[in-house]
Amino acid sequence: MARRSLVAGCGSYLPARVMTNAELAKTVDTTDEWIVQRTGIRERRIAAEGEYTSDLAVKAADAALSMAGMVADEIDLIVCATSTPDETFPATATRIQTQLGMTRGAAFDVQAVCSGFVYGLAVADNFIRAGQANTALVIGAETFSRILDWQDRSTCVLFGDGAGAVVLQGVESNGGSKARGVLSTHIYSDGRHHDALYVDGGPSTTGTAGHLRMDGREVFRHAVVRMAEAIDTALEANGLTPGDIDWLVPHQANLRIIEAMARRLNLPSDRVVVTVDRHANTSAASIPLALCQAVHDKRIQQGDLILMEAMGGGFTWGSALLRW
Ligand code: ACO
Repeated sequence: MARRSLVAGCGSYLPARVMTNAELAKTVDTTDEWIVQRTGIRERRIAAEGEYTSDLAVKAADAALSMAGMVADEIDLIVCATSTPDETFPATATRIQTQLGMTRGAAFDVQAVCSGFVYGLAVADNFIRAGQANTALVIGAETFSRILDWQDRSTCVLFGDGAGAVVLQGVESNGGSKARGVLSTHIYSDGRHHDALYVDGGPSTTGTAGHLRMDGREVFRHAVVRMAEAIDTALEANGLTPGDIDWLVPHQANLRIIEAMARRLNLPSDRVVVTVDRHANTSAASIPLALCQAVHDKRIQQGDLILMEAMGGGFTWGSALLRW
């Protein structure tokens, strides 16, 4: 027997305000047609003034706790994946902790940009496997609208705000790939690619929050290769093949990247969860948002094998396999 992390609940939250491509076309030189054709994005959500990353996260976490039938004080660990924290410090996770009314355990942030949820899941899963935590909240929450250069059409059309969360619970398992829970996580980074995707500010450099800068083609090229490698490693580590996957729940950056991954796995499109059309790229929040959507509309059923993969600034990338 071995310890494993079971997903006991998931929840998500999107800000109320919808921004369509047509609305963006009024302020930058772009069209709905260009955005849809190149990215698959039709609209995104934008956080209201005074609505912070922690506010979105708390709503997602509350929903995840309620699905798990748990209260916040039963949680040992909060890991919040975000690149848009409320403040430079303290960790947004500690703000979430207070707002949830939780006074025990530990809370900290993980910074891996679009791979943040996979990184957060890896951290929490390892805490649970090691026996240092029995329950954990893993949250991906972002307000990317706050770090976009709204004059730069090559980036401002791509991102949105939102949050998603899962509650993990330690269980005894036979350790096989048929048993429920997180089967494996694999995370990687290569800092040499900093210039392809970064924010041009920070507390130690400019003293400002800065704006997102990206070489889209370079990111695209690496995303396809790196995520494919991480998927192969995940399947191999569990003695599984692409044919075993029931659902691909990928990071939602671009429909063309998602379709390339699905083709490589020979997965039909109705086995791929896509939210990028309505959410755009919500960075660390995109995987838990997509996961929750497919769980709540009952596409994902108990026992299904879910593959998650992501890549983001750093570069960072990774994959996770989960038996629901
Ligand atoms: N509207 C109209 N035209 C535009 C826009 C826009 N919003 N943005 C760029 N263009 C123009 C460019 O200026 C360029 O014009 P030019 O040929 O006259 O110079 C032309 O469109 C083509 O630009 P490219 O950047 O080559 O277009 P591409 O087909 O590569 O698509 C995109 C750009 C969508 C950014 C793509 O490269 C991409 O999705 N890359 C992945 C980046 C990504 O998803 N990053 C998210 C973070 S990391 C992650 O999550 C994986």
